[in-house]
Amino acid sequence: MTVKHIGLLTSGGDAPGMNACIRAVVRTAIFHGAKVSGIMRGFAGLLAGEFCCLDVGSVGEIIHRGGTVLRTARCPEFNSPEGQEIGVRMLQKAGIDALVVIGGDGSFRGVQALACRGIPACGIPGTIDNDIPGTEYTIGFDTAINTVLDAINKIRDTATSHERTNVIEVMGRYAGHIALMAGLAGGAESILVPEVTFDLNDVCARLRRGQARGKLHSIILVAEGAGDVVEIGKLIHEKTGMETRVTILGHIQRGGNPTAKDRIWASQMGARAVELLLSGKGGFMLGVRKGRLVVEDIAAALAEKRELDQGLYQLAGILSI
Ligand code: ADP
Ligand code: F6P
Repeated sequence: MTVKHIGLLTSGGDAPGMNACIRAVVRTAIFHGAKVSGIMRGFAGLLAGEFCCLDVGSVGEIIHRGGTVLRTARCPEFNSPEGQEIGVRMLQKAGIDALVVIGGDGSFRGVQALACRGIPACGIPGTIDNDIPGTEYTIGFDTAINTVLDAINKIRDTATSHERTNVIEVMGRYAGHIALMAGLAGGAESILVPEVTFDLNDVCARLRRGQARGKLHSIILVAEGAGDVVEIGKLIHEKTGMETRVTILGHIQRGGNPTAKDRIWASQMGARAVELLLSGKGGFMLGVRKGRLVVEDIAAALAEKRELDQGLYQLAGILSI
């Protein structure tokens, strides 16, 4: 089948750079003579038939903006075979031949379900968590870790003035990539992530060693999924007697102007996805491996496990000794 009409949606948690990717998908498709329909609010909008025509001008002035102009949503109905069948029918009714989904690993399972039902569909990794199997990079991650780094720098100033320990919670319910990379770049004393079991006594011993050699402040970075950050702050205070403050960075990490890196990968991935769909390919995801753009079979990639970089985790521990 010749692909002439591509559907495009964003799904799951939004991520800076999604708009740059939307722009790349739309303009590449139009460049090659295809039409693009935007589907609002992820799979929820697909089931509800919320489609809009995207032309060259409609994606102007968005490359620099965080969020997603197509909106996003979580849609539990799409997890069921019945929901997926409705999705297929809605695409057919709208005359859409192929689908691009920008989202996280949950959204990619939706892509896989559609591909199994004969829809040429593909996934572009968009989540600040950087936790998708099959790729070492996801759109939005670079912006998010720079946002966290900026916060660490600011908190460091006040932590030094008051000689305090600051415990900072970053996003990542199941994955510690944000905590690890921002913690490494920000010189955190300890980084607590869901993938690595930790002993708070070791964290406190590290703090005491720093204090003994005259350190004025300490930063502990905690991924959401690693534990209750307020409780961790309280225990550190009780065990060390150090004055402790807790900061939960929250959704500030999901917004903001995307970095150049996020925009550049988003542009490349969006363009490549369209070229492959137009060539008749489906059931794939875009990714980055060893710093290069790669195309992976989506089912095979999702069967992999996305690991935390243990080497970098150890390095962060060594450098903050
Ligand atoms: P993310 O894509 O950021 O990981 P979610 O895990 O919340 O976010 O998934 C986003 C949406 O993808 C879900 O609300 C649902 O519509 C769809 N989805 C998630 N898991 C599946 C699945 N196993 N099968 C089909 N669709 C799914
Ligand atoms: O998956 C992205 C993410 O930002 C996670 O890091 C975080 O745990 C979650 O989404 C928060 O989701 P919500 O949109 O429900 O606040």
